[in-house]
Amino acid sequence: MFDNLFRCKPQIIEDGIPCFGNELDGDFYSEADISTWRNGGFQNSLLSSKLIDSNETKHLLNELSKETYVIDLASGPGMGLIPSLLRINPNISCMATDANVSVLKEWKSFLADKPSYKRIHFTQFSLMDIPFKENSVPVYSSFIGLSSTKEGLAGYNHVTKEVFRSLNPGGKLFTVEVDWTDIPSIINLFSKMDKHPWSIFTEAIETGIQTWHERFIDNGFKILYHDLFEFRHLKGTDNELGEAAERFGVEIGMNFNAFIIQKP
Ligand SMILES: C[S@@+](CC[C@H](N)C(=O)[O-])C[C@H]1O[C@@H](n2cnc3c(N)ncnc32)[C@H](O)[C@@H]1O
Repeated sequence: MFDNLFRCKPQIIEDGIPCFGNELDGDFYSEADISTWRNGGFQNSLLSSKLIDSNETKHLLNELSKETYVIDLASGPGMGLIPSLLRINPNISCMATDANVSVLKEWKSFLADKPSYKRIHFTQFSLMDIPFKENSVPVYSSFIGLSSTKEGLAGYNHVTKEVFRSLNPGGKLFTVEVDWTDIPSIINLFSKMDKHPWSIFTEAIETGIQTWHERFIDNGFKILYHDLFEFRHLKGTDNELGEAAERFGVEIGMNFNAFIIQKP
């Protein structure tokens, strides 16, 4: 099912997982992370009903569950939308992917004795260089996968183009991605802190593209569905920005937006 999508051969196969390189693009996970996954973390991800209980993500999952198979991007320790999707449609075939191979190996080994998850395949690659042919993939999913990439706005743009390139005409991405709430007021806050704003904020103002919605449109996608899933307020304990926001009485945070987008 997935074999005819690839445009090249894997560099190596590790524990049965085809690996296409660029592993350093992904996160680094410690032994402590791995121990947390083994001791309840993965099980909690499989059983979490958070995305099913919320109307916005439930809609996303219901629509996604009508597909025959899906490739989840930057699946990470939560395995993206896959655990929630399989609770709605246990028969859908899925590919979990990540730049970091250790998280995929851990998931593979964790699920090995659980027959209800036998339709999950694992492939290591970076979103910066997706190993699928142009116009080949019918459906991608992601939970904060695109927002997790590390090259700033240029990187966000690049991975959006990679998804567009590899999708079939008519192909879709079902995703939840994160935006900062109000970039001009964040830049204002940095000046009150007497600090230079992070480049991600200055670049957003310079390019005029501040949200995933704008970025998707700018890269040629059609937005079929967009709704706010969750707002997370940045707290003083989170980082220096949160601490300054509290000190100067400014409310900032992150919007988690649910999208279904389509390559025309
Ligand atoms: C915080 S997790 C994202 C949430 C994740 N989808 C989940 O459900 O847990 C970030 C994941 O993105 C992966 N990642 C970061 N940059 C990537 C890239 N360029 N290509 C593929 N995966 C990437 C990391 O290795 C990490 O596992």
